Amino acid sequence: MKLGIVGWRGMVGQVLMERMSAEGDFDFFETSFFSTSNAGGSHPFKHLKNANPVLQDAYNTKELALMDVIVTCQGGDYTKAVFKNLRDLGFKGYWIDAASAIRMEENSTIILDPVNMSVIKSALLAGKKDFIGGNCTVSLMLMALGGLFTQGHIEWMTSQTYQAASGGGARHMNELLQQMKYITDRVLGAEANLSDKILSVEKNVTTLMGHNDFPKENFGQSLACNLIPWIDSDLGNGQSREEWKASAEGNKILGTKSIIPIDGTCVRVSSMRCHAQALTIKLKSAIPLDEIEGLLAAHNPWVMVVPNNKTESIKYLTPEFASGKLTVPVGRLRKLEMGDHYLNAFTVGDQLLWGAAEPLRRMLKILIDFKS
Ligand code: HSE
Repeated sequence: MKLGIVGWRGMVGQVLMERMSAEGDFDFFETSFFSTSNAGGSHPFKHLKNANPVLQDAYNTKELALMDVIVTCQGGDYTKAVFKNLRDLGFKGYWIDAASAIRMEENSTIILDPVNMSVIKSALLAGKKDFIGGNCTVSLMLMALGGLFTQGHIEWMTSQTYQAASGGGARHMNELLQQMKYITDRVLGAEANLSDKILSVEKNVTTLMGHNDFPKENFGQSLACNLIPWIDSDLGNGQSREEWKASAEGNKILGTKSIIPIDGTCVRVSSMRCHAQALTIKLKSAIPLDEIEGLLAAHNPWVMVVPNNKTESIKYLTPEFASGKLTVPVGRLRKLEMGDHYLNAFTVGDQLLWGAAEPLRRMLKILIDFKS
């Protein structure tokens, strides 16, 4: 199969390239790398045996149309600029996309195969060609709770998120570090211990965030020593677009016949690349906790059920633990005071792996199997 990759230089693209190399995925394809800015130039993947050494033009629909499958991590604006023209030109190949631009289109299937392999297979058999990675928070939540969702145990769920800077992109991660430096450069002097005057130090920190030269071009405000309780656009009904995605995408991924409502508040915090979520789940029946733990653990090889004690919770349910891992820890599992039908959970996962690159990489392998 001829594979075209667009957006391999960006952050998600880099993670995708690393994972594909580690898994030997390139052996199955004749790969061409496309560029939006350097067509005719060369790419850094010289070691790949079956790769075209010359960069192709990512806006040249004729060149793109020669591919059997295109994977793009270039972002939604690129998809909007190219995808429809390419299909209008008669491109019949597969389009695998990390961006949200065409995710909710009727012809698009959201890919998260450990959770919805049957949905993906039906789509392939029906001749569908557009396979789109899900929103990171939604994908990570489903990886953690697949055991309850796919067994039909959930009546509704609320999700309160703690989303990392990486969800905004590489520039946001960089800006978070700049903000931390801006603040600490100005308050941490030679004095090792500011605790005696911490109230005036805090006042200073908060004032610094409002300074004209405080770095906030990307976030628009400080994320360091702060949080931002709104992610993505304002839908005008009190809900953010990120919050809307939970139910819309979650149900589309699962292929549910009757909608399972999922809603909550999405919040940006100062983690680097792992999204966490606190979940309140209304169960359809009062299944016992040990049964719940068993269902969750058995659902997929990556979920890790963390016993609900302080030592293991603060060790495993953190961005520090999840960073760079495919493991998706889920814990803080307990029945809430509201009654036996109400379950508490907390989960964390790498936003760039299961939240972005990994489902795309795995879809390529699914296509190879489907075609052979
Ligand atoms: N929308 C997500 C976020 C990242 O801002 O954290 C991409 O799914």
